[in-house]
Order: sequence, then structure tokens, then C-alpha cells
Amino acid sequence: MESNASSQLMSRVVELRQLLMAASHAYYVLDAPTLPDSVYDQLYHELRDLEQQFPEVISPDSPTQRVGERPATQFHSVNHYVPLYSLENAFTTEDVVTWQERCAKALELEVDTASLELGTVCELKIDGSALALTYEKGILTRGATRGDGIAGEDITQNVKAIRSIPLRLRLKNPPDHLEVRGEAFLPIATFERINTERQAQGEQLFANPRNAAAGTLRQLDSRIVAERNLDFFAYTLHIVGNWSEDCELSAPQSQWETLAALQNMGFRVNPHCQLCDSLTAVENFYHHWETARHDLSYMTDGMVMKLNHYAVQERLGFTQKFPRWAIAWKYPAEELPTQVLAVTVQVGRTGALTPVAELAPVLLAGTTVSRATLHNSDRLMELDLHLGDTVIVRKAGEIIPEVVRVLPELRPSDSTKFQMPSHCPECAHPVYKPETEAVTRCINPQCPAIVRSTLEHWVSRDALDINGIGEKLIAQLVAQELVYTVADLYKLNQEQLQNLERMGQKSAQKILDSIAKSKSQPWHRVLYGLGIRHVGNVNAQILVCHFPKLTDLETAPLEAIASIHGIGIEIAQAVVNWFQESRNQVLIKELNAHGLNLAASFTEDQVKETKINPAIAGKTFVITGTLPTLKRDTIKQMIQTAGGKVTESVSKKTNFVIVGAEAGSKLDKAVALGITCLSEPEFLEMYGA
Ligand code: IVH
Repeated sequence: MESNASSQLMSRVVELRQLLMAASHAYYVLDAPTLPDSVYDQLYHELRDLEQQFPEVISPDSPTQRVGERPATQFHSVNHYVPLYSLENAFTTEDVVTWQERCAKALELEVDTASLELGTVCELKIDGSALALTYEKGILTRGATRGDGIAGEDITQNVKAIRSIPLRLRLKNPPDHLEVRGEAFLPIATFERINTERQAQGEQLFANPRNAAAGTLRQLDSRIVAERNLDFFAYTLHIVGNWSEDCELSAPQSQWETLAALQNMGFRVNPHCQLCDSLTAVENFYHHWETARHDLSYMTDGMVMKLNHYAVQERLGFTQKFPRWAIAWKYPAEELPTQVLAVTVQVGRTGALTPVAELAPVLLAGTTVSRATLHNSDRLMELDLHLGDTVIVRKAGEIIPEVVRVLPELRPSDSTKFQMPSHCPECAHPVYKPETEAVTRCINPQCPAIVRSTLEHWVSRDALDINGIGEKLIAQLVAQELVYTVADLYKLNQEQLQNLERMGQKSAQKILDSIAKSKSQPWHRVLYGLGIRHVGNVNAQILVCHFPKLTDLETAPLEAIASIHGIGIEIAQAVVNWFQESRNQVLIKELNAHGLNLAASFTEDQVKETKINPAIAGKTFVITGTLPTLKRDTIKQMIQTAGGKVTESVSKKTNFVIVGAEAGSKLDKAVALGITCLSEPEFLEMYGA
């Protein structure tokens, strides 16, 4: 490239990055958006296109580098540059006073003057997963989990997918090496959404947002991390080596200054913190947040007190596990006893029977709880629950109330043990519990409960996204026997709808319109909508990348599905089983007849959504010989992620043969069959690398 053109390109790239970084900071950190989404997208695409065209301009802190294209295969253990300590817990004011006295004694100060002179920073204790971030010359180079405090796992790609973590510090002449620590957490709303999805898939639920955050951070596919809106509050800063003289910011000397510095550098810092100069102020902070925390969109499990000045912290130092200058004051566990009045059994989409305890209402963590999940048959056996039992209920992660344990000593003498029903409470069909599973299931596909939730899943936002059809309407459609399968939705007519309760001509027409509109939804949404076990919306997209047509997926051997990165045998088995059932084959035929998309058509939108590369998707590749730079596995993965297929031998079905050094008979065969041969650079050009 001409040097003039090249410098013009570079300055546009830099400009785009700056605009995007500033917009992202305003949106994710400051909660004060500056650009409309459409403008952001336009700029982002311009940058991405430039980077695709001129890969040499890509830098690790570019906003396009947040989400990895390819899932990782495993995480590696890394040693922390500075160990991550845990915190000692206090539960009462007395515990806090004891801690203060201990600090004062060690510092040879009177307690009262100690708290006044020293200053204590009070912060919320965020219930998430600790992260250690490394910034070298201001660029995020590593993100690691806490692990045992000495070594954790390198999850850099996932950390980059957290939008509020800056990839580059907003700091001129930054120090060579900074370690930033904080808490990654899931907003409660996302936690609830993930659990609803998991319940629908018949998967085990996350007990609380902390587990869900930790589980998300350890996802091999960073796209899932990005999709779950994981967020991060920074709370400590360690300088490894010297703080550069010419740095814009002077080195913080206290925790309070650190919080300000972190904020200036572009981090999200929890705004609910206070520099206190007395025990009363600390107590007020604790008691205020004990209730006010229920209005936050994320979970907290206490507060953290940190003696403010670094000079003081240094004098106190650390024990084996904890800093002596900090302590966590935890909120009491939100557990209360109540009585089980009855046990009801709910039937989910996969037919899973969930026993639910109907309770004498109790006020727990700010809300009245009158029902609590008993999870499944195995859990019920473990609890040995009798009707009329007094049980301890807990709001797991303050969200889903659950029965923690039974108090058998309070059991009424005439109480009977609760047994899981032998027949489905909805359809009276016999239920089934495989030895190896904790869950009992109704296996009647016509069970109204299963039909209702199957339809609810089909119309849901990530599936066919059919507006105007909700739980109530579905209940009516099923009760009136107008709909038995999702395909029946496409047979509904104006008259049938108008005969339903509270349904006017206009609303009936609107519903028919949205049903008709759903026919143009892409194939991966249809696949997700089918509700195959373990096939959530991400897995559906992965499957569609590899099997762009339903006919490919339907006939795919188990091993071919299982070998896809991120899929595995359990999911593959569920897919194969699903397609083997004759009623599912009928359903597919009907959906096809109604004109739903059962193949990827790779329109512009779908390409964006599925990371599919239209030049590669649906094509079959064979690789032969030694390629100059790419490893066999790497190129295979590139092709598969872009939606193509790699096979071992050349046949008439092969579209392209990628040829390296010392290629053998495969090349001869390709030439004989007139198949297009590509060199590695030619392939890369096609790939758009
Ligand atoms: S300070 C040496 N501040 O709580 C300082 N930790 O139970 C150690 N946590 O491992 C951490 N919010 O993961 C600190 N505002 C906060 C926190 C916080 C949550 C977590 C952190 C730590 C755990 C200890």
C-alpha cells in the first residue's frame, strides 16, 4: 500500500477505535450512552471491515477483539503476579469491634482515635467471582480466575468479552505493569433468564448468581460470556514495579484514592462506597444496605471494611489467608423455618416433574415466600419430606426459594411421607425415572403441560419470536384442542381465534400476521424452537454452522455431531434421538409444508448472527499436504466455524481441496475430478482473514 494511503487508513482505524471505546465506556461503565446503537454498529462494522481487509492493523485492544471467533479447548493454570487474599468474616457488631481493637492494638492506638484517624472505606461485598486483570503498558494482557489465590486459570478471552472491562486503560503514560482486582458478576435478571432456559432444557439450575458467574467465566466459548452480560466492579489496584514518573496520575496512597483512580482509568467502580470515620458510620452503612441491597440489580452478601491508608495497611500486613486491615461483615443467611402445607408437582417442557412445596407464607429477604422448589425426586428422597413438616427455606441467591432441610423433631405424629406420583398430574400417563437420572418424567408427548410449554418455547423471543401469543392464549388453544404441536399454529384461522375468550377481530388478525411472519425466521431459530434437549440457542447456531440444512443434520451420524467442538456426545445423542422419533419426522414435514426455513440461507443478518462465512458455509473441503503456516486442526476449525465441512477423502461432493507441500494422491484425484484447488493464501483470502 502507498504510504500516504496507509497512514490515512491507520488514522481512520485509530479514530474508529477511539470513538468506539469512548461510546462503550459511556454505555457500559457510566450508564450514560452517547451514541445511538445504529451509529455504533455502523462504526463497528467499518472498523471490522477495515481490519478484515488489512489484518496488519488489528491490535489486541481493538473493540473488535472482545469476542473470540473460536472457542478455547481448555484453560491453562497461571501464577498470580500478586496473590489474591480472601477476607475474614464478621457477623455481628461485636466481631467488628474486636477487629477494630485488634487493629488499634497492633498500631498502638486507642480504639476511638484509631477509627477516626485511620478512616475505614466501606464497600459492598459483591457476590460474584474474583478476577485478576493484568495491564501491561495500559493494555489488558491477561485475565485470570482466583483459583487458590496463588494460581488461577487464564481466561483472558472470556474477560475480554466483559464489556465494562477496558481493553486499554484511559491513562496517558501508564505504568509498565498494573494488576487490577475486582468482582465479575451476573446481573440478577440474566441469572434468572439463564435458569429459566436451563429449566426448559431439563438441565441442572445454578443455585445462585455467584455459581452462575463462575460457571460462565469458565465457559470455553467466549460468545456465551458476551451473550450473558457478565459485568465487573473493580476494587483494588497493585503496582508491579515502579509507577512511571511521567504517568498522568499519581500513585494512589489509600483505598479511597484507588477507587477514584480505577474509575478514572475507565473501570466500573461500585458507586455505593463510603469513607467512614466512626463505628456508627460503619454500622449505618451496614444497616442501610442490609435492606437497600434488595433494590440493586446484582447480588451482595455483605459489606467489606478496609482501613483506608496504604501506610496503615502495610504496618498491619497479612495473616496466612487474610489481610489484617480488612474484614467482610456478612449479612445473616436468609433462612427461616415454615410449614409445608402441601406438595404440588409441575410438569416442564421436557416432561420433567418438579415437586414444589406449598408453604405457610414467610417474609424472606424482602419478599413473601409461599412456594419453594424441591428440585427433583432424588432431592425429595434425600430430604425425607413429610406433609406438615417444618422446613428451613432459603432464598438461594435470594432468588429461587428452596427447601434446605427438614426439622424432623417438629414433625406431626400423623404426617405421611410425600411420594412422587406414579402418574403425571396433568395427563395421568405413567411417569418414568431412569436409574441414572435424578429426574422423573412424563413421557406422554400429548401431555397438555408438555404441549403448552413446548408452544411457549416456540413463540419465545430467541426462538420464533411470535408476538401476541403468551401463556394465557396458549393455555386456551391447548384446552380447546385447537393446537397439539407447534405446526398446528400455522393452521389456525381467523374464525377459530375469534371464538376464543376476549379476542376481537383485530387482535386475531394481528396474531395470524405474527404467526405468518415467523415463517421467515432463520433455520437456527427454528432448530432452537424445536426444543431438543440440550440444544439452547448457542448450540443451535453451532449446529447450523456445521449442518446448514435440516436434511444434513437429520441424517448426520452420531459421531459427526459429537465431534463438533462445543457439542459432545450427550448433546449429539439428544439430537439423534429427536430425529429418530416418527412424530418428530412428521412435525418436520409439516413445518416444511408450512414454509418454515429448514436451511440456512445466509442472508446478511444471519451471517452476523451465526458467524457464518457465505463463501465457506455449506461447502466441503479436503486438506492435503503440509500447509506453510496453518496447522491442520486450526484450518479445520476455521472452516467448521464458518459453516463448512472438512472430509478426509476427495469425491464428487468435494467443493475445494486445499493443497500444501508434498500433496499426494488426493491432489491427483482432485485434478482428475476437476475440483478447485486452493493454496493456503488463496484459502485465507476466501476466508477473509
Ligand atoms: S477486597 C485483600 N472488596 O469477597 C482484599 N473483596 O470473601 C481482598 N469481594 O475474594 C478482597 N466484593 O472475591 C474485596 N468490595 C470488595 C469485594 C470483595 C466482593 C469478594 C472477593 C474476595 C471475597 C472474600
